[in-house]
Amino acid sequence: MSETTQPTYRLDRSRFTRGASPVVVREYREPDAAFLGRLLHETVHAVCRADYTQDELAAWAPAAAVDSPRWRERFASTRPWVAVEDDRPVGFLELLPDGHVECCYVHHRFQRRGVGTALLARALATARGAGVARLYADVSITAVPFFRAHGFAITRPQQVERNGATLRNFRMERIVVLEEES
Ligand SMILES: CC(C)(COP(=O)(O)OP(=O)(O)OC[C@H]1O[C@@H](n2cnc3c(N)ncnc32)[C@H](O)[C@@H]1OP(=O)(O)O)[C@@H](O)C(=O)NCCC(=O)NCCS
Repeated sequence: MSETTQPTYRLDRSRFTRGASPVVVREYREPDAAFLGRLLHETVHAVCRADYTQDELAAWAPAAAVDSPRWRERFASTRPWVAVEDDRPVGFLELLPDGHVECCYVHHRFQRRGVGTALLARALATARGAGVARLYADVSITAVPFFRAHGFAITRPQQVERNGATLRNFRMERIVVLEEES
């Protein structure tokens, strides 16, 4: 689908504390890479700190990785969907071909404005278009309510090794309702 035909997700403006533009979900562009790497770092450390220790956060999103050229390599492969407001990236989501929602991060100053919902709506539409019948994600403690609100259910608790730390998260899944054949 071309960018000009991508839908715009309008947010409830009454919930805005800054900016008043609709969030748009667009395809990844190479100059986004460094910004998205920094966004991930800041989001993890600002939003997830209620659910993980400082050591766990540092293992999940190490300071040394913020400006790593690996982001460019990674995103060139995963081609995340990017949510932008006033031309600024405010969140991103990676959807792998098998239905794995790999990364889903919304900037800490743009939480609870529907940005994650817009990204997930795009992932669902993409999965539906590709005939992918199931989405799954390894979801942080912090993000469980968001995924649950979007029809995902926990299938198992997990412990994952990350840079020498063991982090708790949850495998969550949801069915993608594919269009009925006529
Ligand atoms: C999870 C995340 C992507 C959600 O993004 P978001 O843009 O804030 O989510 P939305 O505004 O679209 O939320 C949609 C709904 O999800 C639910 N929800 C989202 N965050 C929630 C929270 N912290 N507590 C309870 N419900 C929540 C609510 O039902 C919400 O609707 P409402 O605001 O009308 O009540 C974002 O919080 C984030 O980046 N978290 C930190 C990083 C992370 O853990 N990512 C997941 C890695 S697996």
